[in-house]
Amino acid sequence: MSKWSRIIYQPNLPLYEGKRITASAEHIELSKDLAAQGMVLLKNEDKILPLKKNAKIAVFGKALIDYVKGGGGSGDVTVAYTRNLYEGFKKLGDTELFEPLADFYKADVAAKYKEGGQPGMIPEPELPEELLDRAREFTDTALFVISRFSGEDWDRAAGNASKKTEGASSRSEEAPTDGSEKKDEKQELFPRSDYFFSPAEEKLFNEVSKRFDKIIAVLNVGGMVDLTWIKNNNKVKAGFIMWQGGIEGGLAAAECLTGRKDPCGKLPDTFANSLADYPSTAGFHESKEYVDYNEDIYVGYRYFETVPGAAEKVCYPFGYGLSYTTFLISTENVYEKDGEIVLNIRVTNTGDVAGKESVQVYYSAPQGVLGKPAKELAGFKKTSLLEPGENELLMISFRITDMASYDDLGKIQRSAYVLEKGVYTIFAGNSVRNVEEVYTIGIEENIITEQLSAKVAPTSLKARMLADGSYEDLPQLPPHDPYYSAYGRMERYGGITPDLKGVPGIKFGDPELAKNRQLIDVYSGKITMEEFLTNLSDDDLISVVGGQPNVGISNTWCIGNLPMHGVPSFGTADGPAGVRIQPHVGVCTTAWPCATMVAASFDTGVAEALGRAAAEELKELNLAIWLAPALNIHRSPLCGRNFEYYSEDPVLAGKMGAADVRGVQSMGVAATPKHFACNNKETNRYSSDSRVSERALREIYLKGFEIIVKEADPWFLMSSYNFINGQRASECEELLEGILRDEWGYRGAVTTDWWNTAEQYKEVIAGNDVKMPNGYDDRLKKALADGLITREQLERNAGRLFELMLKID
Ligand code: BGC
Repeated sequence: MSKWSRIIYQPNLPLYEGKRITASAEHIELSKDLAAQGMVLLKNEDKILPLKKNAKIAVFGKALIDYVKGGGGSGDVTVAYTRNLYEGFKKLGDTELFEPLADFYKADVAAKYKEGGQPGMIPEPELPEELLDRAREFTDTALFVISRFSGEDWDRAAGNASKKTEGASSRSEEAPTDGSEKKDEKQELFPRSDYFFSPAEEKLFNEVSKRFDKIIAVLNVGGMVDLTWIKNNNKVKAGFIMWQGGIEGGLAAAECLTGRKDPCGKLPDTFANSLADYPSTAGFHESKEYVDYNEDIYVGYRYFETVPGAAEKVCYPFGYGLSYTTFLISTENVYEKDGEIVLNIRVTNTGDVAGKESVQVYYSAPQGVLGKPAKELAGFKKTSLLEPGENELLMISFRITDMASYDDLGKIQRSAYVLEKGVYTIFAGNSVRNVEEVYTIGIEENIITEQLSAKVAPTSLKARMLADGSYEDLPQLPPHDPYYSAYGRMERYGGITPDLKGVPGIKFGDPELAKNRQLIDVYSGKITMEEFLTNLSDDDLISVVGGQPNVGISNTWCIGNLPMHGVPSFGTADGPAGVRIQPHVGVCTTAWPCATMVAASFDTGVAEALGRAAAEELKELNLAIWLAPALNIHRSPLCGRNFEYYSEDPVLAGKMGAADVRGVQSMGVAATPKHFACNNKETNRYSSDSRVSERALREIYLKGFEIIVKEADPWFLMSSYNFINGQRASECEELLEGILRDEWGYRGAVTTDWWNTAEQYKEVIAGNDVKMPNGYDDRLKKALADGLITREQLERNAGRLFELMLKID
């Protein structure tokens, strides 16, 4: 097929000759295999796992049936079915389940779904004593399963760990839709926060542990939850996180639990003893107007491994995960070459079953004047499947300058990345805690590795944490007015879709029409982009910097749509858990494992395979742009969308995102890393201010995006709804032109998030190229007439969109 044939003609054709790939058996199998790469074995005493062939087990918890494949909102996917843990076990036929218990849950869950209950959002039923007793007569081995659901537009509650408003609703004057209903439902199910057991789960667990000494805990979750009941209870012999594993997550989990596959995932986040132990918890729900990122760069393990007294708050550390086999990790050599540190690390399977190991390399920078986390991830790699006795040499490298810190206050040199003098120690191992020192490098004088300039500086963040746990004051810039517009405050118009625009009839041979240059001529080199742009009217430019009506099965709208100039409509679809087509369209796609699980694989190959396969589905469905990957930082366990994001660590998130982008774009489909940046809370997400220091912004919240831009050249990128230091991300020129383009060299286009409340002419100036899903044409025309924006700015932004379109196949 020639370029854009699918986009223009929307043929109902399989991507590959003779077979459809969307939700095909092949993709479903791949989804299951990728899921298995991220499952984490937390504990395995007496080698209780894998379950022996024909083992008799009693499974407690409605999550045996009530499987959560992923979170809600744009990270959801319409699927033909999902396979829960029960069905997974049954399909394998390796174990003997206590069926009366399963029958009880099947009936209960079916009834609750019938009443409108959704996966993960139904109460744990009370189990008749008699069933518990009979289960114990059947076997001495219990599986205890819980599931959790969260979603876009609402956050998880903090229980009594919150400073003020408990799990504040996202309902605000600007938000017509919000998740407050879901939040209320959740509050009823989990009065203490779903981080912990619900009262019903706790009761069940107590009943089970009264009867069973061999309990295997299984967690069908999308993010951080309490694991102390696993770690500290002698009766819980094993703990296993199956995450939210997509369409076949139940089967993938059963394969791991029965030993058909080795669980080889590692934790992409620190699991603390309690919710209150995360420094971000107390202030998370303090206000719906803002969040103060007071912990600064000490996010996740950077806090727990550094700040005095925090280490003992860790239940399971970052990077941790067991296997059914054992590995010897030995660093053969480390050397410096071309500004990089290169490590050759041999991994040998010393156990008796096949498995994979993820090796992680950390560095420890000198405390110096700026203060540093005790350890920071520099790189990671996973082996292939190693048979017992087999070994593999992994090469992991990173730039020495990656270890520099950003000096935002001028303690050494203002607005510069600095490698402070002192000793840098390199560690290798298989968790942030289980590492050995393998190399040191001494820097004699402070080195400025990059001189930048102050951007997006705080206006209201008064203080930030230092490495010793104390706080320092921050200088404040004068506040911005995010509501200012020359035309009066923008009213939110969510839900209004772009007009279907009439195209005037064509008079064959019309000399006027012949004057129109066609976009494809830029592709074939007949005309330049400048020539194409100058041929467009102001109205054309204004139209193209706004979203366009849906075409084909797209239901998150299109970009393009200038038929007289040969610009087709390019359809978008969400990500990141698959191609999200709403149920009413009637097309099912493959649900992939959630992003946190992808990160848990510690294998960029998983992200790349997922990206490529998702893009195959987009392409087959004649869509052009995937609104993924999503890589906001897991700043707090409470963010309702963490399941859509990778990790608390920006390097892990960035490398995974880059791999995903490479996979997507290898198919001629655009990837859209999102949400740029600091979208770490859903409550009042359209106008919550993320207040953050320049240093934390650059080292933590922007770092993943920087890695993606520099390593994977994404064609599209989505700005976030929230404000950053008082400015809307989509209106922030320093962010979009300054950091993204001038500093990092981003060559793609930028879209807003959908139906934000920003003023479009300010976005045009800021370099936010398209407003989705609908532009404000009248306001832009006025702004152009009034001289608030220029035609050059419109041409610049439209030009970037056309360049994006030209890259699409
Ligand atoms: C979400 C985005 C998503 C968009 C389109 C927004 O509400 O924040 O992640 O891509 O909707 O569905």
